[in-house]
Amino acid sequence: IPTEILPTSQLASLTVAREIAELIKSKAAKGEKCVLGLATGSTPTQVYNQLVRMHKEEGLSFKNVITFNLDEYFPMQPNELQSYVRFMKEYLFDHVDIDMANVNIPDGTVAKEDVYEYCRNYEAKIDSVGGIDLQLLGIGRTGHIGFNEPGSSITSPTRMITLDHITRVDAASDFFAQENVPRHAITMGVGTIMKAKKIILMAWGEGKAKVIARTIEGEVSEQVPATYLQRHSNTQFYLDISASAELT
Ligand code: F6R
Repeated sequence: IPTEILPTSQLASLTVAREIAELIKSKAAKGEKCVLGLATGSTPTQVYNQLVRMHKEEGLSFKNVITFNLDEYFPMQPNELQSYVRFMKEYLFDHVDIDMANVNIPDGTVAKEDVYEYCRNYEAKIDSVGGIDLQLLGIGRTGHIGFNEPGSSITSPTRMITLDHITRVDAASDFFAQENVPRHAITMGVGTIMKAKKIILMAWGEGKAKVIARTIEGEVSEQVPATYLQRHSNTQFYLDISASAELT
């Protein structure tokens, strides 16, 4: 997997933000929509900060942008502190000129019996706008991308999943205690992610070093779903020095 190691996450995030901005502008110049797949969590926040800055200082417009977020906890109300709807508004959507009708985030309020159909529709909506041009990813310590935990297949679709114990431990501080972390989430599947025309995975800090080494140098395995990215022909990794520490 093509991998760039930059001295700091700030520098790497600026590089990624510039690439996103160039894509948005080149699509706009052709009168086309730009379809972005977006992630939440601590990893992409500096990219969103840079995109907001580019909107304010450099006139970068999001008028032609359509977004699909990877995942949302289930159940989750959109106004709750930990909701990814709230996260995306706080870091990006409230500060740029995106049309909120073009924003898609899995809905954590859907009735359980309707989740299956909801997920089919989410997937169909991605296809109906021509697929994702650029998918941003972080990576969990379990090797998850989106919330595709170990055991997810390479063709898995958008669906409800059970969060791994380690993922719930890592989310405990956001929820003030592990028992408050939801047990489920709705996530785009690995299959959904693999359909993206371009994928950028970012990882910062020593906590990610082991799983990054396993993902880049290990065998493709459902035990580490991020290894499926070895099979995607247009994926780029951006790491800071600490996240790259276990690479041989
Ligand atoms: C978030 C997501 C997750 C995170 C991963 C890393 O939408 O899909 O896969 O990217 O859990 O989280 P952070 O960035 O908080 O280390």
